[in-house]
Amino acid sequence: MFIVFEGIDGSGKGTQARMLADYLIRRGKKVVLTEEPTKELFTGYFTRILLRSKDTPHPKTIALMMAADRNEHVEKIIRPALEAEEIVISERYYGSSFVYQSLQGVPDDFLNYINRDFPRPDVTILVDVPAEVAMERILGRAHGNDGLVQKFEQLEFLRSVRQKYLEIAEKAGFVVIDGRGSPEDVHQRVLGALRDHGL
Ligand SMILES: Nc1ncnc2c1ncn2[C@@H]1O[C@H](COP(=O)(O)OP(=O)(O)OP(=O)(O)O)[C@@H](O)[C@H]1O
Ligand SMILES: [Mg+2]
Repeated sequence: MFIVFEGIDGSGKGTQARMLADYLIRRGKKVVLTEEPTKELFTGYFTRILLRSKDTPHPKTIALMMAADRNEHVEKIIRPALEAEEIVISERYYGSSFVYQSLQGVPDDFLNYINRDFPRPDVTILVDVPAEVAMERILGRAHGNDGLVQKFEQLEFLRSVRQKYLEIAEKAGFVVIDGRGSPEDVHQRVLGALRDHGL
């Protein structure tokens, strides 16, 4: 079983992925909790450097780098676990490319082509929150003060990413979960949705 969590930064997808993994482990399941960009593979390391790079890589370069990391992720972590009948829970997967790289202008047929061989998740859960809620959580986490202008720009960006996620969720059949409220409230919604899907 392959479950993916998607959502804007600060939506709580990492929190929900972890809560679901803990829930399943308590029920005796074997679970692999993982994420993209990957944390332990060299491709993830390069991807994170590229994303932070000041020379602003071309959007297609980012899409290819993400797909390269995804290929390592699939071949080294996801596929072996699925073959061992373990449950794989990934925070972000190709849905993120179809949102972020598409917003950057990479054509869908290019994204479809470079992502076509990757295993399809059994379910993709979109943890949906308004941009303001995500921003509050991000600021709470960073204890930072980024300045009002930057916050406004970030808010606008989060809004456009959220819209794109909702648009793709409808086309691709993602399960949309209301991510507002306490982590436990959201967790119960996730469990309910998985039950509704017979998972
Ligand atoms: N339901 C919630 N209510 C309040 N705070 C939350 C909730 N879920 C998560 N948080 C907090 O909000 C912050 C962002 O959550 P989390 O890291 O899970 O988001 P994320 O979607 O994985 O973000 P990123 O894209 O940056 O990885 C964390 O500090 C987390 O503890
Ligand atoms: Mg996260």
